[in-house]
Amino acid sequence: MNLGTSESVDGITKAPAAMRKTMRRATVIMLGIWMAFVYGSIFTWAEGTPPNVHALDDGLALTPPMGWYPWNIFGQEPQNEKLIKEIVDALVASGMREAGYSYVGPDEGICFLRASDGKLTTNLERYPSGLRGLGDYIHKRGLKYALYTDAGTHTCSKAMPGTKGREFEDMRRFADWRCDYVKIDWCHTEGQDVVKAYTLLHDAQHAAGRPIVHSLCTWGEGSPWKWAAAVGHLWRTTGDICGPGLADWESAMKIAFDNETLFEWAGPGHWNDPDMMIVGMPGLSEAQNRSFFSLWCMMASPLMAGNDLRNMSKSTIQILTNREAIGVNQDPLGIQGHVIRREGQVSIWAGKRLFDGSQAVLVFNQQSSPADVRVPWSDLGIDETAGLYARDLWTHETTGPHAGRISVTVPPNDVAMLRISKSKDFPLPPIIIADTYVVSLRATGTAAQALSAAVTIRNQGSAELPFWKIREGLPGWLSVTIAGNGKSQTLTNRISTVGLKKGFYHVVVRVDNTEPVSGRPMSTIYYDVDLEVPNDVEGGSK
Ligand code: GLA
Repeated sequence: MNLGTSESVDGITKAPAAMRKTMRRATVIMLGIWMAFVYGSIFTWAEGTPPNVHALDDGLALTPPMGWYPWNIFGQEPQNEKLIKEIVDALVASGMREAGYSYVGPDEGICFLRASDGKLTTNLERYPSGLRGLGDYIHKRGLKYALYTDAGTHTCSKAMPGTKGREFEDMRRFADWRCDYVKIDWCHTEGQDVVKAYTLLHDAQHAAGRPIVHSLCTWGEGSPWKWAAAVGHLWRTTGDICGPGLADWESAMKIAFDNETLFEWAGPGHWNDPDMMIVGMPGLSEAQNRSFFSLWCMMASPLMAGNDLRNMSKSTIQILTNREAIGVNQDPLGIQGHVIRREGQVSIWAGKRLFDGSQAVLVFNQQSSPADVRVPWSDLGIDETAGLYARDLWTHETTGPHAGRISVTVPPNDVAMLRISKSKDFPLPPIIIADTYVVSLRATGTAAQALSAAVTIRNQGSAELPFWKIREGLPGWLSVTIAGNGKSQTLTNRISTVGLKKGFYHVVVRVDNTEPVSGRPMSTIYYDVDLEVPNDVEGGSK
């Protein structure tokens, strides 16, 4: 290309005109790219996805994790295998699994010790099936396995070893136990740097090769919302919500109002965690249980139940399994709602746009008398005159069209939880349930065999889901096919033992999907496939 001759002005050589034009154009393009980048990151940030989000790789916890942890109601002492299994059975029997609760396991429940060779080993007195055995029990019931440890020298009560100095071996052990979620506490960490400690634990988890939800528990120390999205999936923002066995309403309210201010930091795969729930614990009224659950749903908080699931009132079950409220929590956009207006003891929570274009609104009345509250559409950033429909997520009634505003009367300590929409339809986002997370097969004899076992994945949401996509890279002995519809799909795992050597074979299968209305990626599903081959099998050269 001929760029013309150079010109010299005041001894400074100027680039030729054509070259200057090209440079100007390049500058404009660069400026455009820079603006697009800045705009893109602001836009993405507003959508709740800061650039460095760990979950973008592993697809875990793209909606807030749901499950159960023992600490709030039980504390340490009664935790053992029998208790955890009873809770697992109660979780399934009560309908909570069908409502989306999946992660379950011991907290600081004295479940492992450090053996003389330095390796973590199950405390068999309390967990006689071993921690792998407990994991299998949980997986076979279509639930996911949660465990607990600490970044320091010991767990809080010093009843269990911490991971300090043994991060890589310990995380390998958690992977061997087939854990899917690990809460990592911050006790006995004197002299440790919080960012370095949890980054090392993330690296150790990565090296262990099993996709695990990483739940950081620094009680807000070190402002994890500012950095932990790169190394984990959720982080506690505050101190403990209560002492074991004692629901503390004042403390819960303080935590809720502290946590809501952090709303900009949360999004798919990276959540603010205001601690486990107290719904259904002794001492709370039905209205308080309903209010608490609504607040946690509105804040896109992890929904880890903390009550005794074996003894729940009908009302507690109804609250914990209210699919319309859960739908707000599990919304694929993952926006954390927050307080937009507070008048005395009455707060209006909004800013939570949902996948179908509707918005969630919560009116919370902490007065001892009823509150009459008006929410004008302008508070929600919607054209004043628009006639909109309102869905009450607790009475399950739709009203409207309402022009310009809605008025509600909220009883003391209670809430009105609404979805506001242009449409009369209020679809639910996907809630995914699998009948099992482990497939175990055993070959017999020495002749080649074809074995198969199924995993069924159901979707409780309104939209039909496309087929789950099976991640490539399965070993030669396994193929997975998928059949079904938008509500229920069966993944058939077909195993060919041709030419396999005697031994144990294991692989984690990954399947991904997209929520069809919003086009947002859904949380990835992983399940384990185990094959036992007791003898060398004929054929092939594998
Ligand atoms: C810390 C955590 C609690 C619980 C206890 C166990 O206090 O914040 O959630 O795990 O440790 O000792």
